[in-house]
Amino acid sequence: MATADVHINYVHAQWSSRWVFVLAATGSAVGLGNIWKFPYMVGQGGGGAFVLVYLVCIALVGIPIMMAEVLLGRRARRSPVNTMRVLALDEGAGAGWQFVGWLGMATGFLILSFYSVVAGWTLAYVFRTASGVFATQDPQQIKALFGVFVTDPAKVLIWHTLFMVTTTVIVARGVQAGLEKAVRFMMPVLLILLLALVFYAMGSSGFGQGIEFLFSTDFSRLTPGVILGAMGQAFFSLSLGMGAILIYGSYLPQSASIAGSTFMIIAADTAVALLAGLAIFPIVFANGLEPAAGPPLIFEILPIAFGQMPGGGFWGTLFFVLLVFAAWTSAISLIEPAVAWLTETRGFRRMVSAVLTGGLAWLLGLLTIMSFSHWAFSFRFLGLEKTNGFFDIFDILTTNITLPVGGILIAVFAGWKMQRPHLQDELRLASRAGFEVWLFLTRFVAPVMVGLLLLYLLFGHYFDA
Ligand code: PFF
Repeated sequence: MATADVHINYVHAQWSSRWVFVLAATGSAVGLGNIWKFPYMVGQGGGGAFVLVYLVCIALVGIPIMMAEVLLGRRARRSPVNTMRVLALDEGAGAGWQFVGWLGMATGFLILSFYSVVAGWTLAYVFRTASGVFATQDPQQIKALFGVFVTDPAKVLIWHTLFMVTTTVIVARGVQAGLEKAVRFMMPVLLILLLALVFYAMGSSGFGQGIEFLFSTDFSRLTPGVILGAMGQAFFSLSLGMGAILIYGSYLPQSASIAGSTFMIIAADTAVALLAGLAIFPIVFANGLEPAAGPPLIFEILPIAFGQMPGGGFWGTLFFVLLVFAAWTSAISLIEPAVAWLTETRGFRRMVSAVLTGGLAWLLGLLTIMSFSHWAFSFRFLGLEKTNGFFDIFDILTTNITLPVGGILIAVFAGWKMQRPHLQDELRLASRAGFEVWLFLTRFVAPVMVGLLLLYLLFGHYFDA
């Protein structure tokens, strides 16, 4: 296979089976993006219109790009930077393609910096829920509690630090050792709890309104900001466009089916996001709260439900524990590309690589913490009001720009630069038509759709009256 690799060590690790890959990639995909971000983006983006665009992007862009990422990783079996370098040489493309890997690493740092802060809020809410405080307060008081918490940087810093240190330790020990086992148990339980919450929501007086909000499409709400946000969220939620799925693919055994695995990962991720929406919006409406509350949404809404439910202290605590686990299994995939690259090219031990990368993301995270208190500033972006300064900038820069750009480049490389026999060799699709459909989506549909949306983002204001 790759010939141009004399100075680059292989990433030797391999998942113990295809199922472990599916589990790990699902662990990467399912996270705060599904349960925290998806509901608040739907809330701000006007409900069903956002959901519809999101689902279309998953089908037309998410599926082909995820297959492409896994394919590239498995073919080269290296970190994203070196995968792109080796494959570009092999396929006679320019060495500049390794830029995709660099962009991905930078994106991983930026995402992890704010991801860890939100995961820190989640950790704090494990203990708050366990303390029983929500059972004694009314919805407005519960809402106010969150406001007091996030505007106290010293408190948030402790939880952010705790999350980042634990993430670093897990990454340092290697993915297989502890995490694999935990995920095997945690993910199914999270799903069951989410279903239980949906049942609870079905009994609330806001259920009809919640369903209506999620699924009835009011096309007048499809503004450029909403469409771009939904497309970005598809990348964010599926962990696409930055090399996280690529590096997991690089540990995939040669015999495993790429298409079958991809479908399972995407189905699980989409189901969790929709269930989170079904659980949350009925409670929002039943309590007369605001669906467009933004990032605080679930931290204000779910404690209300847990406060009213019998046994809510127990179930609520368990829910936030599982959400922290979902966040861990995503966070490790955010720095794995950088850790693998440092280990491969610089010869660092995993421990050193993990501490360096985790430390940098921790530092950047301080900007997000301050964005919710002393350094909050607001601006408008594509018609949406953003009030949390650096947090919003990092989020927009990654979710709306670098992930989609990375995704386009990956699709173009796989679709246009790789030789057809090499693609067929990796994908080994049973049906020829299936391969042609994938190639068409990868060559044309995904890059053109995402590209047009991005162009509109940059130059759209010239078209506005
Ligand atoms: N997919 C994760 C989530 O939905 O929470 C977040 C994420 C992980 C984004 C890994 C990007 C990534 F590479």
